[in-house]
Amino acid sequence: MKIFVDTAVLEEILEVKKLGILDGVTTNPTLVSKTGKPWKEAISEILKEVPDKPVSVEVVATDCEGMKREAKELAELGKNVVVKIPCTEDGLRAISELHREGANVKTNVTLVFSPLQALLAAKVGATYVSPFIGRIDDISYDGLQVVEEIVDIYQFYGFETEIIAASIRHVDHVRRCAALGVDIATIPFKVIKQMYKHPLTDIGLERFVKDAEKAGISI
Ligand code: E4P
Repeated sequence: MKIFVDTAVLEEILEVKKLGILDGVTTNPTLVSKTGKPWKEAISEILKEVPDKPVSVEVVATDCEGMKREAKELAELGKNVVVKIPCTEDGLRAISELHREGANVKTNVTLVFSPLQALLAAKVGATYVSPFIGRIDDISYDGLQVVEEIVDIYQFYGFETEIIAASIRHVDHVRRCAALGVDIATIPFKVIKQMYKHPLTDIGLERFVKDAEKAGISI
């Protein structure tokens, strides 16, 4: 499973990169607003540090023509830019028209909450689809069940669109996505840290350090 970091904060992206596990980055207008930086500055900094892995950047237009125009502009920012387009009628149309026109734009259909939305995202030829697990859980439905159905449908028909499990809230979401064979999980920085932290690792290490001193082991 590929690991994307779900943030626009440069320092967080750099830390995950240093760990050697960064496969990509996803942003959205909310995440960019949290950086306190102007949008263009925040995105250019990310693209400078991550020039060779997919970086999702969201359109703000909501009409088909506006989304297409923005998508083409965003794609000019870097060959690794993936344009996030919402799963609306205009959004789906924008993606199919971009394809028909031969535009070289990679797309990520965002704000996906049902298997049928994901089916349509694949049908219009999106590069990625992003089901929002946490937000589905928030309305007392099962986000992981939605993801499982999408995985099954995509496997059944051999769709090439990659699934990005998004809106991840905790490590158990990540674990269960991995068990389902999801292509990618886009994970908040805080949750990535929780993936390697374990109290028994800390306790065990403390004991080993003490015992090494007792045994006179040093390097
Ligand atoms: C990423 O592509 C999504 O925009 C993000 O995961 C949404 O997460 P949230 O539901 O925690 O805002």
